[in-house]
Amino acid sequence: MFQRKRTWKFCQKNSSRCMINIKRISTKNPLYQQERALRNRILLRPIGVPDFGWEMYDSGSWHFVAVNENNVIGCVVLVPLNDQKSKVQLIQMAVDTDFQGKGIGKLLVEDLIGFCKDNSVKEIEIHSRSDVVEFYKLFGFTVFGNAFEEVGILHRYMRMYL
Ligand SMILES: CC(C)(COP(=O)(O)OP(=O)(O)OC[C@H]1O[C@@H](n2cnc3c(N)ncnc32)[C@H](O)[C@@H]1OP(=O)(O)O)[C@@H](O)C(=O)NCCC(=O)NCCS
Repeated sequence: MFQRKRTWKFCQKNSSRCMINIKRISTKNPLYQQERALRNRILLRPIGVPDFGWEMYDSGSWHFVAVNENNVIGCVVLVPLNDQKSKVQLIQMAVDTDFQGKGIGKLLVEDLIGFCKDNSVKEIEIHSRSDVVEFYKLFGFTVFGNAFEEVGILHRYMRMYL
């Protein structure tokens, strides 16, 4: 079910340059353990959610990781929302602090959208932290519905039809 896709890309910004490999992995891949650690560090601990506290959808989801020199420095998870896997939710989007602002989040989302197009996904939904809405708008996601609170943070519903 899980196929590996290798996309070597350069990220270049702020005069730093690094080579990033975007991989799609399953939870059996050793890189998944690094993904879990990254999510604890960047997403969960800063808002007081216990480590490993948002893994309830992990086993049935697609995981995308950004790898630099064998280190996972970014990740995003795609959760199927129906049996046909035509509607999905993008969750757990994170880039390591030292690597933010270098285009790695953009590489991850672009790879994820390409995967969705190749696999007949018709709709991607996001519960976006309100301060990240503009990031997702860059890819064509739009806000819908009312603002809501999740894990103590103001969120907005976003979606994109493919
Ligand atoms: C949000 C996050 C994933 C973005 O990843 P990143 O690698 O830093 O973003 P990129 O460098 O790829 O940015 C791509 C573009 O988005 C813009 N952007 C990045 N974060 C943004 C934000 N929070 N708001 C608005 N624009 C943003 C960048 O300016 C850049 O624009 P440009 O291409 O016109 O120069 C990352 O900052 C992060 O992990 N933040 C903490 C965790 C988090 O909030 N996750 C999202 C949960 S919903």
